[in-house]
Amino acid sequence: MSRGHVTVVEVGPRDGLQNEEAFVPTAAKVAFIDALTSAGLPVIEATAFVSPKAIPQLRDGDEVFRRIARKDGVRYPVLVPNEKGLDRALAAGAREIAVFTAASETFNLRNINATIEESFVRFAPVAARAKAAGLRVRGYVSCAFGCPYEGAVDERAVAAVAARLFGMGCAEVSLGDTIGVGVPTQVPEVVGRAVESGVPLAALALHFHDTRGTALANVVEGLRAGVGIFDASAGGLGGCPYAPGAAGNVATEDLLYLLHGMGYETGADLDAVAEASRTLAGVVGRPPVSRAYQALESRRARAV
Ligand code: COA
Ligand code: ZN
Repeated sequence: MSRGHVTVVEVGPRDGLQNEEAFVPTAAKVAFIDALTSAGLPVIEATAFVSPKAIPQLRDGDEVFRRIARKDGVRYPVLVPNEKGLDRALAAGAREIAVFTAASETFNLRNINATIEESFVRFAPVAARAKAAGLRVRGYVSCAFGCPYEGAVDERAVAAVAARLFGMGCAEVSLGDTIGVGVPTQVPEVVGRAVESGVPLAALALHFHDTRGTALANVVEGLRAGVGIFDASAGGLGGCPYAPGAAGNVATEDLLYLLHGMGYETGADLDAVAEASRTLAGVVGRPPVSRAYQALESRRARAV
């Protein structure tokens, strides 16, 4: 029995690769994204047009974006911090951007050198110009479940930031557990507050990192709360350079295994995502942390 559709937003090429120590060559990034497209993922965050000094791993974002084979019907958002990033996105032909701020002042200062208030001042013209150019805008709220510098984060602060992003024209707002500290009981609280503050449930996405092994449990609570959009990275790549000790996103393979097993449709093929992870692992030089990936690999190993 189908329980309906869930949208999986693949963020490995951006959130994942930005935190890999090794610089992944441009051709390998392009091949990774193309493999993820072939795997049927509906949304793939392709790269970031941020300062190359802040995130040197994605300094080739313009070229990556131009070289990927974009498939009709698939969305390829790019992360944009300011107007300069928007200019790059427009020049590369992006149709969707993602803007980001945090529910924590200290994290924002370290990550984008701006207070929460300043970040909105910076984003207002970015969002306005993007929308005028017909681009879709996605918004991220980092540290929605806790902050590496400030500890607990009030869900009212999260909701206020989310509502402001939505009010600014973000079609979708992704609430991020940037450092993977969240536990399932927080999920309905955070989601409920955001909805109360005016962000429609259908516009909410959840973005979990699996630092402490709670990501999938949090996803289940998100599903129970009615959320239908989840961010994930192939293989469980990633982390955050401004969040010490943070591990990667919930792995796309693990998320797909859970969703498909529970009866949700995603349009994505788990084996094909694992294949993309396998190829990339050869480039980054370490095996994917995804458990579902490892289970598939051990089956493969037994089969040969
Ligand atoms: N693309 C390319 N270069 C950019 C840029 C962009 N979007 N935005 C700024 N720069 C360059 C400027 O040209 C300047 O270069 P210069 O020193 O050679 O003149 C330099 O970066 C500093 O620019 P400034 O406007 O003073 O920004 P800042 O130093 O206050 O940094 C951000 C602010 C937002 C640009 C930077 O912190 C950033 O890109 N952060 C991204 C962090 C991130 O992606 N985190 C992961 C997501 S959670
Ligand atoms: Zn993240």
